[in-house]
Amino acid sequence: MTTLETWDDLSELTRGFMASKVIIAAAELEVFDHLADDGSTAEEVAAHYGGTQRAFAIVLDALAALGVIEKHDERYRNTPLGRRHLVTTSPHYLGDGVRLRIEMWESWSKLEAVLRGESVERPELVEDPECNRRFIRAMHAYHFDEARQIAPLLELEGVTTALDLGGGAASYAIAFCLEAPDLRVVLIDLPLTLETARHYVEDHGLADRITLQDGDFYRDPACDLGGPYDLVFISNVLHIEDEEHNLALLRDVADATSPGGRIVINEVPIKDNLIEPLWGALFAVNMLLVTERGNNYPQRTLAAWLQDVGCTRVDFLTEALTIGQKDA
Ligand SMILES: C[S@@+](CC[C@H](N)C(=O)[O-])C[C@H]1O[C@@H](n2cnc3c(N)ncnc32)[C@H](O)[C@@H]1O
Repeated sequence: MTTLETWDDLSELTRGFMASKVIIAAAELEVFDHLADDGSTAEEVAAHYGGTQRAFAIVLDALAALGVIEKHDERYRNTPLGRRHLVTTSPHYLGDGVRLRIEMWESWSKLEAVLRGESVERPELVEDPECNRRFIRAMHAYHFDEARQIAPLLELEGVTTALDLGGGAASYAIAFCLEAPDLRVVLIDLPLTLETARHYVEDHGLADRITLQDGDFYRDPACDLGGPYDLVFISNVLHIEDEEHNLALLRDVADATSPGGRIVINEVPIKDNLIEPLWGALFAVNMLLVTERGNNYPQRTLAAWLQDVGCTRVDFLTEALTIGQKDA
C-alpha cells in the first residue's frame, strides 16, 4: 500500500474494508474447503451452512472478482492462491492469520472511542484459550519463514544457550536450533501459549533442546529468566508495553545475558519519524487499540534502551533487528 494522492485513491482505500471483510468471513467459515476441484455451485456451498443460495452467489462472485476463487459456468473453485493459503488442509495454510483480523476488526471499531478518551475493552488475545490458539498459530504462519531467513544472519556458531523471551509458537527457537546444532533454547511465555508451542516443538523433534518455561515477565516481579545466556531473542514483544515496563524487563534481560552476550530485538520496522513505512505507523495504531500502553518503537529508541541497560555496542542488522552486545 502506498500513500494517497488523489480522491480516487482515498475513495478506493476507504471502501477497502468491503473486500477485506468478504475474505475474512470466507476464511472464518472455511468456505474454501467446500469448493470442489471441478467447481461447486453457490447452492451446494450454501447447503454446508444453512445459508441461502442468494447470499452465497453474491459473496462467491465477490471472492471470484478478488481472485481467490474462480467462476466457470456458475461453478466456483479455488485459484492457486486460495488453494495454497486458504484451504485448511494445505501445508501452506495462512487462514489463521486472516481469521485473526476478526479480533482486530473489533478492536479497530473502537478507534473513535479511544480517541474520545473513553475506556474500551481490549481483546483477550492471549488470555482466552481459543483466541490464544488462533493468535499463536497465526504468529507461526507469519513468522516461521522469516525466522528461517534470519537464523543464518545471527551468526549462531559458538552460541550454545539462548533465551527466546515471549517466544510464542517457538518459530524462532525452532529455526535457531535447526541452524545451530549445539544450541539449546529456553522459551519463556504464558502457559496457554506454551500449549501451542509444544506442538510445533515436538513436530520438529526438538523437545530435548527447547525448554518451554511458563512465566509472566511483564506482570510477575518474581519471574526468573534464568541464564546466563549467550543470546537473548525478544521478538514482537516490546510493542506490548511502554518505556517503563520495557526498561524494567530489559534490565532483567541484561542480567540474564553472559558477558559478551547479545540481546536481539526483532520489531515491526518504523523509522525515527514514526511515519514510514505506512505499515509501521498503522501497526502503532493497532497497539494503541489492543493494549493499554503499547506502541511501535523505532530502532533509535530500542538502541537507547539497550544502551541504558548496559549494552556497550548496538547494531542495526536489518530494519527489524536491533542487536545490543554486552562487554566481554
Ligand atoms: C506477538 S507475540 C510474538 C511471538 C514470537 N516472539 C514471534 O515473534 O512470533 C507476543 C508473545 O508474547 C507473549 N506474552 C505477552 N505478554 C506476556 C507476558 N506478560 N509474559 C510472558 N509472555 C507474554 C504472548 O503469549 C506471545 O507469545
